Amino acid sequence: MHDWQRSVIYQVYPKSFHSHAGNATGDLLGVVDKLDYLQWLGVDYLWLTPFLRSPQRDNGYDISDYYAIDPSYGSMADCDVLIREANARGIKLMLDIVVNHTSIEHEWFQQARSSLDNPYRDFYIWRDQPNNWASKFGGSAWEYEAQTGQYYLHLFDHTQADLNWDNPKVRAEVYALMRYWRDKGVGGFRLDVINLISKPAHFAQDDTDGRRFYTDGPNVHHYLQEMHREVFAGHDLVNVGEMSSTCLEHCVRYSRPESEELSMTFNFHHLKVDYPDMQKWVRADFDFLALKRILSDWQVGMQAGGGWNALFWCNHDQPRAVSRFGHSGEFRVVSAKMLATALHCLQGTPYVFQGEEIGMTNPGFERIEQYRDVETLNIYRIQREAGVAHDDCMAAIRQKSRDNSRTPMQWNHQPHAGFSSVEPWIDLPENATLINVQNQMNDPSSVLHHYRRLIALRREEPLLVHGEYRELLVDHPRVWAYLRQGEGESLLVLNNFYGTACEVELPEHVITQGMTQRLLISNYDAHPPRTRRICLRPYESFAVHLTPL
Ligand code: GLC
Repeated sequence: MHDWQRSVIYQVYPKSFHSHAGNATGDLLGVVDKLDYLQWLGVDYLWLTPFLRSPQRDNGYDISDYYAIDPSYGSMADCDVLIREANARGIKLMLDIVVNHTSIEHEWFQQARSSLDNPYRDFYIWRDQPNNWASKFGGSAWEYEAQTGQYYLHLFDHTQADLNWDNPKVRAEVYALMRYWRDKGVGGFRLDVINLISKPAHFAQDDTDGRRFYTDGPNVHHYLQEMHREVFAGHDLVNVGEMSSTCLEHCVRYSRPESEELSMTFNFHHLKVDYPDMQKWVRADFDFLALKRILSDWQVGMQAGGGWNALFWCNHDQPRAVSRFGHSGEFRVVSAKMLATALHCLQGTPYVFQGEEIGMTNPGFERIEQYRDVETLNIYRIQREAGVAHDDCMAAIRQKSRDNSRTPMQWNHQPHAGFSSVEPWIDLPENATLINVQNQMNDPSSVLHHYRRLIALRREEPLLVHGEYRELLVDHPRVWAYLRQGEGESLLVLNNFYGTACEVELPEHVITQGMTQRLLISNYDAHPPRTRRICLRPYESFAVHLTPL
C-alpha cells in the first residue's frame, strides 16, 4: 500500500488563503503562517494552485515562466521556506503543473509567433483555417495571429495557447521543468487538464464542440508513461491528473499501478448533476439519484480495474458544496458534516478545499462587477450578446461561477476575516463573521472538528482504505447508503441528503443479531443502529464499524 492511499490532501488557493504582507492577494509566506493550523487539522499534502510567473489572466493557469515565482506571491526564497517548513511538519507540497498550454506571454510563444520558421513555431498548434472547435471558456478555440497569418489553438482563454505535445522538444522541456521542481523537494504534482494534451493528427469538424477528438487523445497514455519514466520513476511522489470530460476506462488506465502513469485521477461527472442537458450556465437543482449513481459507478469501476479515485466535492473551479448539495441556512452545520462523511468514507484519496472544512458557502454576489473570473465574465458577455436576460445570467452565475470558491479564507473576526489588512481582491461573503476558523477551533461540535476527526479516521480504520464499496438502497431518492467491506468486518455509512427526516430499512444481512457495533462518526448525538429500520433526521449521517458475532 502506498502511504498516499491513507492520506488526505488539502488544496490551497494561494491568492485567497492568507496575505502575510497584508496585501489584497495572498502569498506564499501567508501559507507558511498557517502551516501549524494545517498540521493540527492533520492533512498530509498541500496542493497549491499555480503560483509561478503569470499575467494572471486565468489566476495563474496561464504560466509565462515555469522557473520563477510570480512576484505577487513572493520569491523563490519564500517558496523554499514553504517547502522546508511544510516538510518539517510532515506535510508535503504538490505543485500544480499546467502544461497543456502556456500563457501567450511565455518566451516560447513569443518566439513562435514571430515567424513561420522560428524554431519554437512547432511548440504550438497552428492552422491556416479554424474549425468549429469551441474554447471551454466560450467562443472559438482558434485565435488569428496577424503577423504570420495563421490561427493557433487555445482550448481555454485565447491567452492560453495549447502546446504541441507531438513535438519531442516540448515534452523534453516539460519533463525538465518537472525534474527541477521534483529536485527542489516537492512531494508530487497535480497535472492540469492532462488528458487533453494529445491532439489528433487531423482536426475534424463535428456537430458539437470538438472535445471528443482531443479528450483522452491518441497518445496520451504513451506520453504519461514517458513522463513517468522521465520524472516519477524511483521517486516518492504522488501525482494526480485532472481529467476533463474523461471516462472510467481511461481513468483506470491512468491510475492503475501497472500502467506506470499517475497515482490517481480527478473527474467531474458527479459535479455535472446540476447541468440540465449538460448546460452549465443555467440555474438548476441537483439530481440526487444521478449523483449517487455516478459516484457509485466510479467506486465500483475503479475498484474492479485497480484504479484509484481522487475524491472531492469542492475545488477552485466549483461552487461551495454546502450551498450546492447541502443547506446554506439552518442546516448548514449538519449538512456540511454529512457531505464530509459521505465523501471521506469512500474508496480513494479525499481532498479538502480551503474553507470547506469550516463549511464556507457561496457568497451570493448580486452584481456582475463583483466577479473576477475570466470564464464567468466571458460567459456573461456571450450570453448577453445572445439575448439572455441579465437576471437569468446572474441567477446561473450566482449558482455556478468559479468565484464561489475563490473568496478569501475566513480566519477570524478581524477586518477582512483576517485574510489581509487591506480590501481583498474579491469581496467576502457576508457571513464571514459567523463562519470562520477562530469560532470553530474552540467548538468541538463544529464542522472543523468533524473534518479533523474524519482525517484522523483514515489513518485509524484500514477499511476506509481497502474496504470494498457496496451500495445499499440503490433507488432510495433521499439517502445514500453504502458499505465498505473486508475480511468479515464492514463499515456502514448512511447519509440523508435532505432537510426532512426519513426512515430507511436496511437489507437483512447488514445488521445481524449480536453483532458488535462501534460508532465512528456522526453529525448528531447518535447511537449505533439497533435494528434494520432506521430513522434519519434532517441531513443525518453516520459511519459505524460492524463486526459479526
Ligand atoms: C483547470 C483548472 C482551471 C483552469 C483550466 C485551464 O480546469 O482547474 O482553473 O482554468 O484548467 O488551465
